[in-house]
Amino acid sequence: MNRITELFTIQYPIIQGGMIWNSGYKLASAVSNAGGLGLIGAGSMYPEVLRDHIQKCKKATSKPFGVNVPMLYPNIEEIISIIIEEGVKIVFTSAGNPKTWTSLLKENGIIVVHVVSSSKFALKAQEAGVDAVVAEGFEAGGHNGREETTTLTLIPMVKRNINIPLIAAGGIATGKGMMAAMVLGADGVQMGSRFAASIESSSHENFKKTIVGVEEGDTQLTLKELAPVRLIKNKFYHDLQNLYAQCPTPEELKTLLGRARAKKGMFEGDLIEGELEIGQIAGLIDEIQPVQQIIEEIISEFNDVKEGLNSFRF
Ligand SMILES: Cc1cc2nc3c(=O)[nH]c(=O)nc-3n(C[C@H](O)[C@H](O)[C@H](O)COP(=O)(O)O)c2cc1C
Repeated sequence: MNRITELFTIQYPIIQGGMIWNSGYKLASAVSNAGGLGLIGAGSMYPEVLRDHIQKCKKATSKPFGVNVPMLYPNIEEIISIIIEEGVKIVFTSAGNPKTWTSLLKENGIIVVHVVSSSKFALKAQEAGVDAVVAEGFEAGGHNGREETTTLTLIPMVKRNINIPLIAAGGIATGKGMMAAMVLGADGVQMGSRFAASIESSSHENFKKTIVGVEEGDTQLTLKELAPVRLIKNKFYHDLQNLYAQCPTPEELKTLLGRARAKKGMFEGDLIEGELEIGQIAGLIDEIQPVQQIIEEIISEFNDVKEGLNSFRF
């Protein structure tokens, strides 16, 4: 037991990060059933779609699960109302100000966690009254901080600044990675990329196959002027770079981005024109696996490496 397993009443301090177009109720319930904490990703769902996923998740697992709410998407008021109405117990907010919703969620008995990319924002989240913080490094898939602070650097710095439980994210996909994050001061880990490549992820088969083919150096953080995001270097990414060469205005970037690129890439499987979000650690992910197997592998490796460390003496 530790602060994270106690906070969420789960077996392992492994959280499946909310992921647009990947983390519906099937993934979230599978992670919760396997002893971690599954999160439904509300960012790609209309409010009524989210309600349906929450109801299905309740049927698919008797274990705790949560909802991730990226605050940069529309319909937030409605999303929050549905979360409260449906009796969701855990909410992870991201991409916005933690002050906006924390009090209301907590008044409704909800455990609130906020995702940050710096010590400064971690402290703000703590001051806003959240129960725990996810500190996410530059390696991570999806939207990211502008400062490019890596997980290895970020975790000990955040740890020094806050006293609430700390969850590390970004570049963690194995038991060894989990151990490293915990040695640096994390109480638990949040993984995205590894679960995006699971059988239960709702993303398109083409996207999953692409993730397992990704090698070191195949992703890049881009679109810093709008909302920084780590993408696989496909044709759309290169189109963006060509536009960057012409010093575009944010408006021109927005026009090229258009609408629904992430859906096109990750959900509809358009590997050419779509936006394909994944973390650097995808270079280490070689197989599309069932969630149960992923969690068993991580825990078994974590325990092995822990034993091995006992023999280190210098
Ligand atoms: C495809 C994809 C979509 C993501 N969507 C979201 C999201 O909707 N909300 C969010 O807070 N984080 C999102 N993330 C970040 C993850 O929740 C998680 O923090 C991150 O993937 C951890 O880094 P890793 O990819 O190295 O494991 C996304 C990540 C990926 C790979």
